[in-house]
Amino acid sequence: MIDLSSAIKFVPKTQTVNQDRFYYTNDACFIKEDTNIERGLYEAKILKFLTNNDFIYSPKYIGSHIDHDKKVHRLVMEKLSGETLENLVLSDSDKRRIAGELFCLYGKLIGVNISHGDINESNLLFNVNTKELKLIDFEKASYCKSITDHSNDLSGPPWGIIHLLRTRLL
Ligand SMILES: Nc1ncnc2c1ncn2[C@@H]1O[C@H](COP(=O)(O)OP(=O)(O)O)[C@@H](O)[C@H]1O
Ligand SMILES: [Mg+2]
Repeated sequence: MIDLSSAIKFVPKTQTVNQDRFYYTNDACFIKEDTNIERGLYEAKILKFLTNNDFIYSPKYIGSHIDHDKKVHRLVMEKLSGETLENLVLSDSDKRRIAGELFCLYGKLIGVNISHGDINESNLLFNVNTKELKLIDFEKASYCKSITDHSNDLSGPPWGIIHLLRTRLL
């Protein structure tokens, strides 16, 4: 387990993707900093829940921290290797592999009663060496009491996954 305060102290800022979110990384961890503290806390809560429930398809939760001086929330998580699907040119065998993994991932999400809410190729990381597929970005996720709860990826067809299969994988 990485000590949260030292992790935050030593990671350099690497990139700015959105105006209100910043991303820091070092070899061990990845930090998502959010100026919307409530949103950051919510994402941290979901990621912690998934980690505690042995969901293997997301980065492991490491810590959650509010910086009151800078008025930001920092979510510290395991650093993943791999590229988002949107940035990969996939071989046919990797496409088949990802399609299979997507259904395992989806089944496990149902098993822990979480709806991701934003499954798309920018939120899936694939490692072409290890063939591991990981789901990230849980800020739109929600808890579901049952599979029939109204939510966009647990009730009815999982549209995000179907769209990926049709446009990228099959
Ligand atoms: N745990 C992680 N390890 C490595 N890279 C990550 C991790 N989480 C996110 N990223 C990178 O940061 C980018 C933005 O992360 P994401 O959680 O999707 O934020 P946003 O809410 O801005 O879409 C991703 O596309 C990915 O490249
Ligand atoms: Mg995202």
